[in-house]
Amino acid sequence: MNRGGPHGRLYDSIASFLGKNPPPGIPRKWERFSDFAILPFGSFHGSEWEEIIGPELWKSVAEGLDVNRLGVMGEVTGNIRKSGVRMLHGEDDWVIRRESGVDYGYHVTKCMFSAGNVNERRRMGEIVSRGEVVVDMFSGIGYYSLPILVHSEAHHVHCCEWNDDAISSLEWSLRRNGVESRCTIYPGDNRKSSKIIGRVADRVIMGLLPSSEGSFGAAMEVLSESGGVVHIHGLANPREYSSWAEGIVQQIGSLRPSCVVEIQKINRIKSYAPHWDHVVLDVFVQ
Ligand SMILES: C[S@@+](CC[C@H](N)C(=O)[O-])C[C@H]1O[C@@H](n2cnc3c(N)ncnc32)[C@H](O)[C@@H]1O
Repeated sequence: MNRGGPHGRLYDSIASFLGKNPPPGIPRKWERFSDFAILPFGSFHGSEWEEIIGPELWKSVAEGLDVNRLGVMGEVTGNIRKSGVRMLHGEDDWVIRRESGVDYGYHVTKCMFSAGNVNERRRMGEIVSRGEVVVDMFSGIGYYSLPILVHSEAHHVHCCEWNDDAISSLEWSLRRNGVESRCTIYPGDNRKSSKIIGRVADRVIMGLLPSSEGSFGAAMEVLSESGGVVHIHGLANPREYSSWAEGIVQQIGSLRPSCVVEIQKINRIKSYAPHWDHVVLDVFVQ
């Protein structure tokens, strides 16, 4: 029988491989981009799948999803969710994700890409004014720096990153998007790079979870003398955004006692774990 819809096609492909109706546990959601699909953590879980799981099953899943390559999200560990993709079908883990007119290239088993942060990536591309200097203290593969470079008229973006895989990806994507002349990468710990960059930033991005507080001092070292905006990512209880934000304002204020630190906005990005939201606090320091 031919079932309609993507889940139906996946079901049919697996049923035809097994020669019978599959057991329960076939995923209903997945991430799909170019010729790649990533299954959610826990897919095909349960004793009935144990004897079925193997390369032939993954081939039938890939066919059912009409992709050449297949991965699965890694195990979720601890209070705070951390996951990495494992390849199930296909050899090459290099992917190019196109989102809002930006190409992000990366090795899917080595670097993260949080699909749920799409609105924040878009916001960063829209928020930066002409001529601004931006310092991205945790640039990764360029989640926020690339949309800024592609969509705004920022004068320059300084990227700090200590993971070599993320740096290689960022270098590739800067060239791919044709914006490499307006970006400088500082390999290594941002607490050292901040001293080389100096007080140049109109805007600082602090995109590290669960918290970037270990680098608040470095952020104040790169923020220009006349001040600017700092975007601080973190995890907050849904009922305690205000106290979380006030705590950060106090920490930032103590690092620049002569400045006024004002909350501009608190933006919810996504639910991160039970009772924890990924949020971004925009503060104006002057
Ligand atoms: C995972 S990314 C942020 C992801 C982004 N917020 C998202 O969810 O799409 C954070 C990056 O900061 C880098 N990083 C962490 N601590 C750092 C430090 N002290 N100096 C430089 N890079 C650092 C990590 O290697 C990582 O690539």
